[in-house]
Amino acid sequence: MIGVFDSGSGGLTVLRAIREAMPSADVIYFGDTKNAPYGLRSRAELSRLTVEAIARLHRGGAQNIVSACNSVSASLAVSLFDVLPLAPGNLVEMVGPTVSHFKDSRSRILLVATPATIASEIYQNAFQMIGKEIDTLAIPELAGAIESGASDTEIERIIRDAFAGIESNAYDELILACTHYPLVQPVFNRVLSEKVSIFDPASAVADRVVRQFASRETGTGLLRFVISKDSAPFRARVAEFFPTSGVAIEVLD
Ligand code: DGL
Repeated sequence: MIGVFDSGSGGLTVLRAIREAMPSADVIYFGDTKNAPYGLRSRAELSRLTVEAIARLHRGGAQNIVSACNSVSASLAVSLFDVLPLAPGNLVEMVGPTVSHFKDSRSRILLVATPATIASEIYQNAFQMIGKEIDTLAIPELAGAIESGASDTEIERIIRDAFAGIESNAYDELILACTHYPLVQPVFNRVLSEKVSIFDPASAVADRVVRQFASRETGTGLLRFVISKDSAPFRARVAEFFPTSGVAIEVLD
């Protein structure tokens, strides 16, 4: 069984790509809605929440883990593999597959993400390792607004404010390095120059999941959701993304 986790509904964008690529894999999804948004939290808090989320997925029967949250990638340090009974081969996270997608690219890149992701410099360092300099932009309010189901008008205001003073046509590609952001991709399209193409890492991550886990994951397509606090926007997104799954959402107390 594959365990996928995020602070809330952002990881559903990654789960959707995984389901398309591996429909028969059994998956348990944990959305930590009680502690969302993650992107404004400290490295120490994120490390604790990451350990708890992975332990919860293990208890739920998952052996292979997908961290569908960029903000925790910096906490997925090697020491975690000691804390948890988790081998590196049993984990897929967002940064590696995203950066390796751009290995041969000559695009001028702007990467948007939460403050935690940008402050960790994990993407800046990883891109440097493949010989590329990127520009980054943190959008502090955005993931929380998406998680709480803010209106399109409010989302557009947040994105426009964040891009004020940024010459978006100086870039070829915008990387959505927060799994919540693809949920409002049409708003990014409206705000940005049409010359910029928008990259959602979900399918690159799903490809990695297939490469790494497919030989070990033979299931019946079971899908189970667990959240740490009830959330109407989360329920609505599950119904929209997985309309035929008919699955219940378990809410922890
Ligand atoms: N979706 C997560 C990410 O990719 C977390 C966003 C948040 O909760 O702030 O960073």
